[in-house]
Amino acid sequence: MYTQALDAQTAEAAAQLDESALEQRFLARVDAEEKIEPKDWMPARYRNTLIRQISQHAHSEIVGMLPEGNWITRAPTLKRKSILIAKVQDEGGHGAYLYSAAETLGVSRDQLVEQLLSGKAKYSSIFNYPTPTWADVGAIGWLVDGAAIMNQIPLCRCSYGPYARAMVRVCREESFHQRQGYDLMLHLAQGTDEQKLMAQEALNRWWWPALMMFGPSDANSTHTGDSQRWKIKRFSNDELRQKFVDFTVPQAKFLGLTVPDPLLRWNDAKQQHEFYAAKHSRSGAEHADGR
Ligand SMILES: [Fe+2]
Ligand SMILES: [Fe+2]
Repeated sequence: MYTQALDAQTAEAAAQLDESALEQRFLARVDAEEKIEPKDWMPARYRNTLIRQISQHAHSEIVGMLPEGNWITRAPTLKRKSILIAKVQDEGGHGAYLYSAAETLGVSRDQLVEQLLSGKAKYSSIFNYPTPTWADVGAIGWLVDGAAIMNQIPLCRCSYGPYARAMVRVCREESFHQRQGYDLMLHLAQGTDEQKLMAQEALNRWWWPALMMFGPSDANSTHTGDSQRWKIKRFSNDELRQKFVDFTVPQAKFLGLTVPDPLLRWNDAKQQHEFYAAKHSRSGAEHADGR
């Protein structure tokens, strides 16, 4: 009995030793920018983080089809209708790639869909906002897909191979989504006063939700540390949000539209914009990788 207990203790200690050696090897591979593949050893926390992130991302792609999908029958021209159908179909495809990437981690698509339908799974809350006018379709493409690109380009270099490879293709398509949205906004902004007002009001509605897509501020972000260590995440939420603002503000100026932030100004010393930051600093705000 005593010997058996001792054996069990020894086996447990050896397993722990193995585990820590495996983790060291895993981290060395991540540091060397090697891709981790589905059959490779990985820490359980890395696996669970990826399942959570990739499935939330997949759900966001699928739910993201809804606010724009309801404009397909009301698109103003055949050209705009074709573009919108292609875009919404792309989002469904993104969901499918991402469910496949999540499945390589040992979770089934049925489980993931069940979690979405039961309301247990999270997805990007931006897709719960209403799209009352045609200009909202333009603002979504320009701002929501634009913010998604900012989040997703670094994910093309994510340490987990299947996720990184899915993101390469997704990002190419997101680039078309962003441009078609901007093109739509440009046409409205150069149109009648009523069309220009419609574009401005859509910008007013989507500006703050787009900034919130980058998640809580770094001080309140619970997942950033591990994700950066594992090279899932390359930049912090606030770094990405800043990049998005610096990239998007000149585009709004070119449209002749006003970003609805009275505190927005260019800081010449820092070579970046200052903007109102409190709206997205709540802890627990939904981090949206989706789109
Ligand atoms: Fe998109
Ligand atoms: Fe997408």
